[in-house]
Order: sequence, then structure tokens, then C-alpha cells
Amino acid sequence: MSEEFDQYAASYKALLKDPIRDKFSADGAFFAKRKWILIQDFFSHRKRNLHEMAWLDIGCGQGELLTLGKGSFGRIAGCDMSAEMLAGAQGLDVTLQTNPECLPYADQTFDFVTAVCVFHHVEPSHRDGLVREMVRLLKPGGVVGILEHNPLNPATRLIVSRTPVDQNAILLMAGETEKLLHKSGLSELESRYFLYLPESLYPSLGWIEPILKSVPLGGQYATFGWNSEPRKADVRVY
Ligand SMILES: C[S@@+](CC[C@H](N)C(=O)[O-])C[C@H]1O[C@@H](n2cnc3c(N)ncnc32)[C@H](O)[C@@H]1O
Repeated sequence: MSEEFDQYAASYKALLKDPIRDKFSADGAFFAKRKWILIQDFFSHRKRNLHEMAWLDIGCGQGELLTLGKGSFGRIAGCDMSAEMLAGAQGLDVTLQTNPECLPYADQTFDFVTAVCVFHHVEPSHRDGLVREMVRLLKPGGVVGILEHNPLNPATRLIVSRTPVDQNAILLMAGETEKLLHKSGLSELESRYFLYLPESLYPSLGWIEPILKSVPLGGQYATFGWNSEPRKADVRVY
């Protein structure tokens, strides 16, 4: 249900409150910060210059993650089905999306297209179409990133089961997300689990998370997919 988030927007942060979630991060800001660290880490390993890249976050909601990346990417943009959620994305380049399977941008516009905690709200029959749209928007060498709750983590399942905004959620395993990206033609795939540690322990013990990235117990996971076609910058002409 696409506009269902209109009803949640005014009290979105309050609706996410949960005793376990709050122990992990008192004000919830850590969840977006941790994702931003993960995204930076992904691209720094690939020696990609974010300032030369355009990033679209679909289902961006109130734009918390985009706000963190604003000064680092050459361009950032967001879209969402909920006008009320977008109203909270002040100062960002956002567009209202009117069809759950159509993204309001031209082909090959972005280097990086993400969907963060969106696909568990997308009807299963719309998921293939939405991923195809994300891939349509990629420039050659571009990357799609889908970040999701991990159904294999018992705390995640419990929190989702009692969070009002998740009442219609249908969680996806990382393998299902990989299949969606593979079916849409992305040949290189990588999933990594994260959010093992609460905010209080992350500064001292965060180095453990990359070591655990293949252990399917983190609170969330990220699946990245890209085409094997080389970027122009990678092609050397002698
Ligand atoms: C749980 S919120 C996540 C918002 C944001 N990505 C974040 O992590 O804070 C899910 C968002 O996905 C949006 N959404 C649901 N179905 C969508 C679709 N088919 N296309 C784009 N956005 C969608 C909702 O309107 C909502 O704003």
C-alpha cells in the first residue's frame, strides 16, 4: 500500500519507538548513521569518488539518510509514494512518486540507487517491477543498494511485529533480495549483514562488524548489485 505512510508521517519517529530498539539507539539517529558508514565503506573499497556520483534514494521518507550524504555526493535526490513523508524532507531534492512500480526519472540518470527499509512495504507482486526501474535509472557501472531488516535476527522480528508502521510488512531474506537484483540483470552481487552492535559499543567495537558481515545474524543487511560493464574511468586506452 503505497500512500499508507501519509498517516504515519506526523508522528513517524514516535511510532518507531520500541524498548529493544531504544536500547540499541536512544534517539534512533544511529540507524541512519550506521547505514551511511556502510555506504561510504562500500564505495571507498571500490575507490569511487562520491563527489562525481549522483545518488537517488527511493522511498526516502523524511530524508534522514540523504541528509547525511548531502555534502558528499555530487548530486542527491529522493522520491517516495507518500507526500506527507516527503514534507519532512526539508531542503532536499525530492519528487513525489505516483506509481509503485515507476520511478519519475529518465534512464541512466544515477550512479547509485538505493531503497532503504522500503521493499518490505512493497507488495511482492510489485517488487520485480520496482527493481527493474531502479536498474533502468543506473548509468553504466552504477550500483543498486537494497537495505533491509534481517528476518533471521530474532530481535528484528520482534520489533517489526510490534511496530505500528510495520503492520503490513513482509520481510525479505537477503537471498530473496539477491534474486530480485539478479533477475533484473545485475550480474555482480554482494550482501553484507550489519547492526550487530548498539550505538554505545559501536565506537569501540565497530571493527568487529566487517568481520561478521557474512554471518546472517545482524539486525539488517545490505545487498548491492551492479553491472560488470566497466566504468569509463576504468577503461584505459593505449
Ligand atoms: C519504513 S519507511 C523508510 C523511509 C526511509 N527510507 C528510511 O529509511 O527512513 C518506508 C518508505 O517507503 C515508501 N514506499 C512504500 N512503497 C513504495 C514504493 N513502491 N516506491 C517508493 N516508496 C515506497 C513509504 O512511503 C515510506 O516512506
